Amino acid sequence: MNRVTCETAKKNNTYDITIGNNLLKNADKYISRFIKGKKVAIITDSNVAPLYADILKDALSAYQVFTFIFPAGEASKNFSTINSIYSFLCENDFTREDTLIALGGGVTGDMCGFAAATYLRGVPFIQIPTTLLSDVDSSVGGKTGYDLPCGKNLIGAFYQPKAVLIDTDLLTTLKPETVSDGMAEVIKTALLSDKDMFDLISEKQLDLTEMITRCVHFKSTIVQADELDSGIRGILNLGHTFGHAIEKLGNYKTYSHGQGVAIGTVIACKIGEKLGLTKKGIADLAKNTFEAYGLPTLPPYSAQEIFGALKNDKKANSSGIKLVLLNDIGSAFLHQTDFDTLEKLLTEVI
Ligand code: GLY
Repeated sequence: MNRVTCETAKKNNTYDITIGNNLLKNADKYISRFIKGKKVAIITDSNVAPLYADILKDALSAYQVFTFIFPAGEASKNFSTINSIYSFLCENDFTREDTLIALGGGVTGDMCGFAAATYLRGVPFIQIPTTLLSDVDSSVGGKTGYDLPCGKNLIGAFYQPKAVLIDTDLLTTLKPETVSDGMAEVIKTALLSDKDMFDLISEKQLDLTEMITRCVHFKSTIVQADELDSGIRGILNLGHTFGHAIEKLGNYKTYSHGQGVAIGTVIACKIGEKLGLTKKGIADLAKNTFEAYGLPTLPPYSAQEIFGALKNDKKANSSGIKLVLLNDIGSAFLHQTDFDTLEKLLTEVI
């Protein structure tokens, strides 16, 4: 079992991320010191609830446990679900002392975190992620929120959890494509973090606990440096500008988030190489590693289609867009580019 500490100064909260196997069954041992009141609400979805909600409930038998289940999927990530969580908490007389637990993937964690940030102006919450993607990314760092019909994650708050419990056993029930999806964020993190980690992942040398620990440790250092996402935290979006465009062009059905990130990261590396800013050969290294984990790397749309879709990206500004580029593995930076240059670069690399 490993432990990483995330210290977030602005929101004044330091929390531990515990990573290992066989943790859910013994959740009380790891999280009860953060539960001050008598009541706990497990917020989970219709896929995860039948597998894990009772195990968690049994582990927390010292508390009065309530379970809120919503239909699994991104379509539930809206204000209607948040409103139902508020009503559920109100009907069960939850106070500021009571605790919410997000048991699920990114959709669950983001919504439970937002409900916790806003109900009674803030109640404690704990993250128990159940997908690789939420283990290594969304459960750490305090980004919470929900989607609007005109865009994803447009409403939100920074609100840090009291603890994160990552049980690697929970990944055994995932479909292989869901694991691949998470591997895209793992490989992205390795490219941002260091060559040693990248090589170990490319060679499939790290066990799950070690791989997740290294990702979470890297993310924590970035979150600690820029909790409110006004600078360096932006590098965590490596490949995401192009990835989001690809997800959007496929109506969020054809390409998953991880597939978009894999294709988008290779595009970003090729653009960096074209500009002479990224060391030659990085795009090929990234491509080979994504492919080794079953992820696509070839852009399925034309440069013009991708450019059209990313022009409206919420991260775009009036003079263009900030791209995340690599000098080398382990050294990322933000590069402002205007739209005309970006369109030209895209036609050159796609
Ligand atoms: N998922 C990127 C971040 O937490 O900033």
